[in-house]
Amino acid sequence: MSLRLVANWKLNGSREFNHEWALGFFSNFKGNSFTFLGIAPASLYIDHLRGVIGDHDIKIGSQNIDLMETGARTGEISASMIKDLGCTFSIIGHSERRILFQETNEIICKKLIQADNNSVTPILCVGESAEENQSNFTFKVLEQQIIEALDDADELSSLVIAYEPVWAIGSGKTPNPEEINSVHEMIKDVVQSRFPKIGLESVLYGGSVNLKNALSLFEQKNIDGALIGGASLDGREFALIANILNELMVQQ
Ligand code: PGA
Repeated sequence: MSLRLVANWKLNGSREFNHEWALGFFSNFKGNSFTFLGIAPASLYIDHLRGVIGDHDIKIGSQNIDLMETGARTGEISASMIKDLGCTFSIIGHSERRILFQETNEIICKKLIQADNNSVTPILCVGESAEENQSNFTFKVLEQQIIEALDDADELSSLVIAYEPVWAIGSGKTPNPEEINSVHEMIKDVVQSRFPKIGLESVLYGGSVNLKNALSLFEQKNIDGALIGGASLDGREFALIANILNELMVQQ
């Protein structure tokens, strides 16, 4: 099962947090299978979280990887290292990495290749700014981000794309579900037509997803799931959102 609902914990967490989150999650999740779920904790806690999650096959991933495999690159973490800890995916090119850490599409492309070389599924994040959205440049900007990021990575064996409008992240604002659906349709078209060798598994939406808006998003044909920040920090809320998606998947 491909990744459909992913928690991005960003710069939050502790060993105690892992335990509390798991308690809240496992006492509220009603599905039989965990394989569509992923958690991206701070890399330092991957191993501990793995132990806390135990035998449940929730996928664990990182929020970032370096563009190199090894070398004199103080502070960095490679795809092979997260693979060694049992990770199966990594978020790549999140807008916070693009803005705060100056990640370009060229750098992101190298990270995608690193992930693929280590059998780690990349979740490539793309999204337009508020100004680009207001100027109706959304499709153009996303197309360019995708084409540049996949330029030298046109044979990725697996890929998940997360559409995350920069202005929707952590703001409580979202585009309406129909708008998101048409963006996702465009993303699928671009990847299929320009990069036919890439195995695109799912297109997730991210940006202020919560328990209240989850159903209206997941009901859309081309919204395969979500990448969730703030609302994923509460194990109970994440489980209730997972239940909504799980019910829809069971009906399909
Ligand atoms: P948010 O973050 O759910 O808190 O808006 C989403 C993300 O940044 O991936």
